[in-house]
Amino acid sequence: MALIPLDTTFLLLSLATLVSLRLVHLAVHRLVLHPLAKIPGPKVAALTHLYEFYHDAIRPGKFTFQIDGFHRKYGPVVRINPREVHIQDPEFFDQLYSTLMKLNKDWYYYRFVGTSDASFGTPSYSQHRQRRKAFNRFFSLSAILDHEKQVRKSVLQLCARLEEHRQTNRPVLLGSVFRSLATDVISQYALPEGHNLLGERDFGKDFHNVNRKLSGVAAYNRHFPFIIPTLMVLPAWLVKLTATPGMVQMLNFQSHNQNQARQIVAMGKRSDDSVLHGIFNSDLPDSEKTAERIFQEALTLVGAGSETTGSALEHVFYHALANPAIKARLFADLSEAAKQGDLSSHETLKRIPYLDAVIKEGLRMGHGVSGRLPRYDPHNSITYKGYVFPPGTIISMSIRDMHLDPDYHPEPLTFNPERWLDPSMQKRSEQFFAPFGKGTRACVGRELAMLEMMMVTATLLHRFEMDLFRTTYDDVRMQHDFFSPFHADDSKGLQVTIT
Ligand code: HEM
Repeated sequence: MALIPLDTTFLLLSLATLVSLRLVHLAVHRLVLHPLAKIPGPKVAALTHLYEFYHDAIRPGKFTFQIDGFHRKYGPVVRINPREVHIQDPEFFDQLYSTLMKLNKDWYYYRFVGTSDASFGTPSYSQHRQRRKAFNRFFSLSAILDHEKQVRKSVLQLCARLEEHRQTNRPVLLGSVFRSLATDVISQYALPEGHNLLGERDFGKDFHNVNRKLSGVAAYNRHFPFIIPTLMVLPAWLVKLTATPGMVQMLNFQSHNQNQARQIVAMGKRSDDSVLHGIFNSDLPDSEKTAERIFQEALTLVGAGSETTGSALEHVFYHALANPAIKARLFADLSEAAKQGDLSSHETLKRIPYLDAVIKEGLRMGHGVSGRLPRYDPHNSITYKGYVFPPGTIISMSIRDMHLDPDYHPEPLTFNPERWLDPSMQKRSEQFFAPFGKGTRACVGRELAMLEMMMVTATLLHRFEMDLFRTTYDDVRMQHDFFSPFHADDSKGLQVTIT
């Protein structure tokens, strides 16, 4: 047996002692001395981020459900990791996410995005304002209505594809269909040349499966932030050697986006021809107009606009088709509206209250964004009931908690469009409803998403007779929270037959 020299043993022992002392110090600090030490919650979650990591990444996407359990046990205020408090109280949502609050996003949580160069993942309040201003104008209602023709074109393309399925009687994976439609719409708006997943065989099913897997990888990146940057610098040829067809499709998709950003910068043309052109044409400083940063904006705009809208539509359709009375009432109202105008025009769609109610109910139960929204105020304390959280404390709330709270939305697991129409319920329902978030970091794509959802729901449910195919609520309900909600791995999501 080789003998370790004495001075090496001494060194190793000293190192082990130092590491142990540091760990003990960290534990005592987090559990006893930390400003959050007295906040209720499980000690293990307060002690180490590894607890969250396990339920977030290894189990994948289950930490949200752990947080639900903490609240049942400890009440509305819970310390969920060493540095963050989660609050479950719909009355506080408007206050925390008010436009008057100058809050930063928590850089740790948002590392799942893989970049802080795009608006979505920008931690700083002031830098975010500057970045978002560069493309806000593209997403006002009037700007979106100028783009209505393009959205209609995608919906008509989808109808033509569904006709093929009607004739062959093959079931359709509507989840993939909706995600593809949403990806095409936002990419055709944001990029000079968008994508055409609706034209793909199987509506880009493999692509969406890869997206789902990558969302799981993103949860790892939150805790170990070198993962996504490492994957991004791997040469494409190397990845393609071992990649599945869906992965190859994803790589081509991303390199297309990257090339578009590079071309905009290389050509140096000042125009508002696309959202990305608009960012280059804005009054941002030159350091913010690099091809790499514009590419990151493209990545997050397309990412944020597709999975959310796709999964919300999946919920709208599941519930509309699973409830014959709702489907019949919607069809009757759509038929009536079709006599007065065009069901693919916003002007007609906005006058159909039952359509609006069905979509809101889908957004309430489907949670386009299921993840918590952590923020902090670097300069001021935040108070909640008797608690005073010092500057820098990370505080998060979840839209899902508000939407499923029986005190604000009675029988929250029942899909009931009437709650948006009945005057005795309507005001309360609206007040505690925020699928697109609130405040300065609220969704920029709200008007686009609403237009897509209205046009798709009205056109498809009026034009086609659809029936659920081997789909129960378990096939669509959230089983994993990767910021967007994902259904169970072994489910194909919403499937329908068309006659
Ligand atoms: C049903 C569909 C959608 C839902 C439910 C939804 C929901 C949300 C929510 C809750 C946020 C705030 C996230 C946070 O605080 O971290 C957000 C942010 C965002 N959404 Fe959406 N979204 C939808 C569709 C879209 C679409 C179509 C786009 C396309 C442009 C989009 C682009 C964005 C962007 C860029 C942000 C970041 C905003 C910022 O930080 O300035 N979303 N969305």
